[in-house]
Amino acid sequence: MQPSSASDLSTPVLDHRVPPSRPSASDGEPRVLAVVDGPGAADYTDTADYVAHTATLRGIVRQRLVTRALIEHLPPAPARLLDIGGGNGVQAMEFARRGYHVTVCEPDPRMLAAARRGLADAPASVRRRVELVEGDGRDAVHLVGTGWDATFCHGVIMFVPEPAPLLNVLVELTRPGGIVSVVGKNGPALALRAGLQGRWQDTTAMLGDPWAAAATEDVQETGRRQGAGGVGPDRPPALPLPPGDDPANVAGILTAAGTRSLAWYGIRTFTDHLGDIPPGPDVDSVVDAEWVAGAQDPYRGIARLIHHVHRRIG
Ligand SMILES: C[S@@+](CC[C@H](N)C(=O)[O-])C[C@H]1O[C@@H](n2cnc3c(N)ncnc32)[C@H](O)[C@@H]1O
Repeated sequence: MQPSSASDLSTPVLDHRVPPSRPSASDGEPRVLAVVDGPGAADYTDTADYVAHTATLRGIVRQRLVTRALIEHLPPAPARLLDIGGGNGVQAMEFARRGYHVTVCEPDPRMLAAARRGLADAPASVRRRVELVEGDGRDAVHLVGTGWDATFCHGVIMFVPEPAPLLNVLVELTRPGGIVSVVGKNGPALALRAGLQGRWQDTTAMLGDPWAAAATEDVQETGRRQGAGGVGPDRPPALPLPPGDDPANVAGILTAAGTRSLAWYGIRTFTDHLGDIPPGPDVDSVVDAEWVAGAQDPYRGIARLIHHVHRRIG
């Protein structure tokens, strides 16, 4: 299937998420590795939990869709790929199996240890092609140099308070003409999981009151609330999205840094609400359905995650 066209990512802002606090490993606090709200999908403060998550249906759908999209855009192997925040190395090993040379730059030693364990079980040809470097992505220019054929940053921008410094570094790391691949939350659609799980109060709270902002303006302009038009009863408006959860903002930062969008994909349109169930025998069909939905409107616009694929132009 052809990649989806790179159309406008602007969507109404309806939801918010307070950015997780991110203590460093040295603070002695558990480090939040992945924030996944809702029943059956707690925050992962333990590496083993995240590694276990990657083996669930939702984890597999996510990883396989990312791989599938990238195959459409990467230069042929062997090429040099850099995975910023590469975690336990799932994408690194996948692309090493396909003949690429992959460097993982990852700040969490526990994640790197999990990646090492995965590599230990991999064939020597794969092990040879993967390098692990400990460090924060924002320091990666000094740690691993520039000129990469492609730079990945999947599921990481939700952990930095402000995404622009990290996104700018991704572009700087990538050679002109190279690929920048970023996966982030689809902030405007985050209420969908709660709704599909029947958590109605959570859903309503996440959505806020779309009429409240307009009503506030009415009050300011006319000194009274306009009764007609369904102004909601005292529900607060949704708070602004954290900047890393706003796909239009992420795409805009990448573009301003010197890239152009090649395509964007939705990840987990149909499976995000299923909790941490294991994959069934129909996993290939599930991935196929998610792939087709994630490449076209309107389905990709309500997916849980958005995968941006850009090319560096300068
Ligand atoms: C949800 S995991 C994603 C791992 C992997 N990219 C994947 O898609 O499976 C988030 C990862 O981001 C890493 N991370 C958090 N802040 C980071 C930063 N500033 N630079 C690089 N990696 C970071 C975490 O240590 C963790 O391994």
